[in-house]
Amino acid sequence: MNIKKWSLVAIAGMLAATMALFGCSSGDQGGASNAAGSDGGVKLVNDGKLTVAASLDFPPFENLNGDKPEGFAVELMNALAQEMGLECEYLPSTKFDTIVPLIQAGGKADVGVSSFTITDKRLQQVDFTDSYCDVNQSLTVRKDSGITEVSQLEGKKIGAQSGTTGYEWAAENIKGAEVTAYDEMTAVFAALDSGQIDAISVDLPVANYYVKAYSDCQVIKEIPTGEQYAIAVSKENPQLTKDLNEALKAVRDNGTYDELVAKWLK
Ligand code: ARG
Repeated sequence: MNIKKWSLVAIAGMLAATMALFGCSSGDQGGASNAAGSDGGVKLVNDGKLTVAASLDFPPFENLNGDKPEGFAVELMNALAQEMGLECEYLPSTKFDTIVPLIQAGGKADVGVSSFTITDKRLQQVDFTDSYCDVNQSLTVRKDSGITEVSQLEGKKIGAQSGTTGYEWAAENIKGAEVTAYDEMTAVFAALDSGQIDAISVDLPVANYYVKAYSDCQVIKEIPTGEQYAIAVSKENPQLTKDLNEALKAVRDNGTYDELVAKWLK
């Protein structure tokens, strides 16, 4: 890697750190008043376990290391489960746009944890816990494309993950763009790298992470969409949402949350 590439990686790292500082260290969001785990009203797919559905392609939040889930949200879920006296169990990686319907239908997973931005549309299908992270969107292009402004993307090919806020942002905001949906975030970056698309619209911390590996690509814009990540829970399981909010408050109060931010998001 030459010096220019290194400095871009450094800038990406600094951007990520800024995001973490301003995005993911925000204070308590209130919460219910019962002690976590002290009630009998929670329904679980498997007794004693918090079963999680996730699209494990979104580092640094949820990703696969070999066949092991890892990342900020994975460790956060482990900490929350522990607070609730439960064991945390991840299902095999699940296609992103099927997770909200899966939680709504019930029976397979207790929670959907995939950097879900709270949106009005999703709130019609599932409940969300208090938010655990704030992020913005971003645009990534190939360095040799000469593209530095959103206006240069008019009529161009944009890639995004199917069912994401990034897909919606591109479809609504880039004039005449041809927006292609991919199942996996990994495939979106591969498509940009190989020239099948001209740009990617995705959550900024994730773009910053991927461009470390795709050094021919760079993030050109942060788009201030002001999104908040939360855990998706069935509307039929309000006690679980309450308990998760209690547990979230506990891990914020006991310093675990900040440790995870320092480990994964700085
Ligand atoms: N925050 C965006 C959304 O809610 C993207 C999330 C994608 N998550 C993933 N694990 N691939 O639509």
